[in-house]
Amino acid sequence: MYILGIESSCDETAAAVVEDGRRIVSNVIASSVAEQALYGGVVPEIASRRHAESISLVAMQAMKKAGLTPDQLDGVAVTFAPGLIGALLVGVNFAKGLSFAWNKPLIPVHHLRGHIAALYLTHPELKPPFLCLVASGGHSHIVQVQDYTRFQVLGRTVDDAAGEAFDKVARTLGLGYPGGPAISKAAKQGNPLAYPLPVPKVEGRYNVSFSGLKTAVMNAVNQGEMRGCPVVVEDMAASFERRIDQILCDKLMLAAKDTGATQICLAGGVAANSLLRSLVNDAAQKLGAKVYLPAPSLCGDNGAMIAAQGFYELEQGHVGDLRLNGLPTLPIDFT
Ligand code: KG4
Ligand code: ZN
Repeated sequence: MYILGIESSCDETAAAVVEDGRRIVSNVIASSVAEQALYGGVVPEIASRRHAESISLVAMQAMKKAGLTPDQLDGVAVTFAPGLIGALLVGVNFAKGLSFAWNKPLIPVHHLRGHIAALYLTHPELKPPFLCLVASGGHSHIVQVQDYTRFQVLGRTVDDAAGEAFDKVARTLGLGYPGGPAISKAAKQGNPLAYPLPVPKVEGRYNVSFSGLKTAVMNAVNQGEMRGCPVVVEDMAASFERRIDQILCDKLMLAAKDTGATQICLAGGVAANSLLRSLVNDAAQKLGAKVYLPAPSLCGDNGAMIAAQGFYELEQGHVGDLRLNGLPTLPIDFT
């Protein structure tokens, strides 16, 4: 089965064709991240405009690279939630048009379910159930993936998402956008023990909180400036990265121990973080659990992950029609 996947929830306009939810046939991405970086973060109106300009070209390229004609497709999957509403609507309306014109099922896909499905593209042998930390710019969830379309959220951030914390701290340190890769790069030259940062207290056994951590960095930077001894950016980047990754890893392992998980996964943009990947690898090994990580190129937003999840949603008969709307928020376990 061939599914065309379309993604436009944030700053990547992406389309891909995936076979049977597991094999990438084509994968095309046009990103407005360089332009967004000029403003220090995503400007929703710019994102929507760039999607509108690129989506047709990106989708047609994905079809061309796959060497498929529309009649060979089995469905058109599209991210419909959550995300920036103006950005989502571009993808949703375009997908509705294709579905109608080509007479193919329209498959609404939840963005975070898509991030999890990126794991199936990297590890053809992986099957639910498994425990997954999904950490992106907008979300940080510890999720029990019970089946391809059944999810239980065990824990979540009570304030900032992990990616958002990376982005905000990077901005404070003058490292630019997107913050995750910039902090990682600077951290490689720094000492992770240089600045003792707090472990924020939070209610809920598997919940996380990052706003206190972010504030601690800001305070240290401000105090350093006032006292005439500025923080060493590389050392602060390394200290912050170590602390946030350790918090994420510890919570994931706590959930893994409590639930007796034998398969532990990472997903979302933050899953590209190499320190987080190695911390989780080491900790899971001690638990005797197997670790599955998405290929770094599939951690960020892409169309292939949407097509992969679309395959499993279609299997369950989860199809939409021309009334489909974009939704800025929607829980991953929606029914
Ligand atoms: O999943 P994603 O591409 O888009 C959303 O759905 O939000 O995630 C983007 C987030 C950004 O906050 C970015 O800074 C973060 O993922 N990110 C990273 C890394 N690469 C991207 N965070 C930490 N380390 C990285 N290497
Ligand atoms: Zn994402």
